[in-house]
Amino acid sequence: MADVRPTLVEELVASGVAAREARWIVEEYAVGGDPDATAAVHAAARRRLDGEPLQYVLGHWPFRGLDLDLDPRVLIPRPETEELVEHALVELARIDVTAPVVLDLGCGSGAIGLAIATELVARGVRARVVGVDASEGALTVARANARKHGLAEVSFVRSDWFDGLDASLRGRVHLVAANPPYVGAEELAGLDPVLAHEPRRALVAADHGGVTGFADVAAIVAAAPAWLAPGGALVLEHGDRQGPAALAAARAAGLEAFDRRDLAGRDRVLVARRA
Ligand SMILES: C[S@@+](CC[C@H](N)C(=O)[O-])C[C@H]1O[C@@H](n2cnc3c(N)ncnc32)[C@H](O)[C@@H]1O
Repeated sequence: MADVRPTLVEELVASGVAAREARWIVEEYAVGGDPDATAAVHAAARRRLDGEPLQYVLGHWPFRGLDLDLDPRVLIPRPETEELVEHALVELARIDVTAPVVLDLGCGSGAIGLAIATELVARGVRARVVGVDASEGALTVARANARKHGLAEVSFVRSDWFDGLDASLRGRVHLVAANPPYVGAEELAGLDPVLAHEPRRALVAADHGGVTGFADVAAIVAAAPAWLAPGGALVLEHGDRQGPAALAAARAAGLEAFDRRDLAGRDRVLVARRA
């Protein structure tokens, strides 16, 4: 039976799909060149041409070597968040405990917590990782990703940031990793329209203290010291104009705070340590 894939790729490119994306869609939906998959390939291409992000159309995307399942219940993990994981691992190496307790606040697809858990296992460290999200839909996706990657020991809790966490964790968390919403509602309107496909709750935060989209960052920074173990660290991604406010909030909360620059030289990650 003839392999339909080359023809399908040509058809998709002719309909306006970029050549590389056309190849990925065909590989995803016409596995092995299955001729019965033609309708599914064209339906996926239509979604893409209608503006849906490629990651949702394919249904999965890599993050630090993990192939994460994704759908519109969760944010598409960004490359800059891979850098946040790097900073988190540096903090955990500094803290150097045999069984660290790690919180991934606003876990979405589970990207940060699952990457940390995987990379710690590879270093022979068995961490207790807890993913936290206010969205039940996001938690469903995160739990499925944990199962997919054999990370049954990672647990998930529905909570408004720290509010619903087990009180026994207070003062015992070695690392709080967070990529909270930090885009202002008005700011969102001027950004890439593709963001409209992602959950608004994953992106948009209220303004706080005169800083656009800063309310969730401020809430997490203010609450973190009560949950961190001595020497523990908060590693938090924020907007590229929120660095000074994030540093000031962390210092006001009694933490030793630093900003970490991304590959483009913008301060996007706060590292704040409890003494
Ligand atoms: C920017 S997304 C980050 C997702 C994932 N950690 C990542 O980096 O790809 C923010 C996440 O925070 C969650 N969230 C928003 N408000 C929350 C709250 N008050 N408490 C807990 N989670 C919240 C959203 O549902 C969303 O999954």
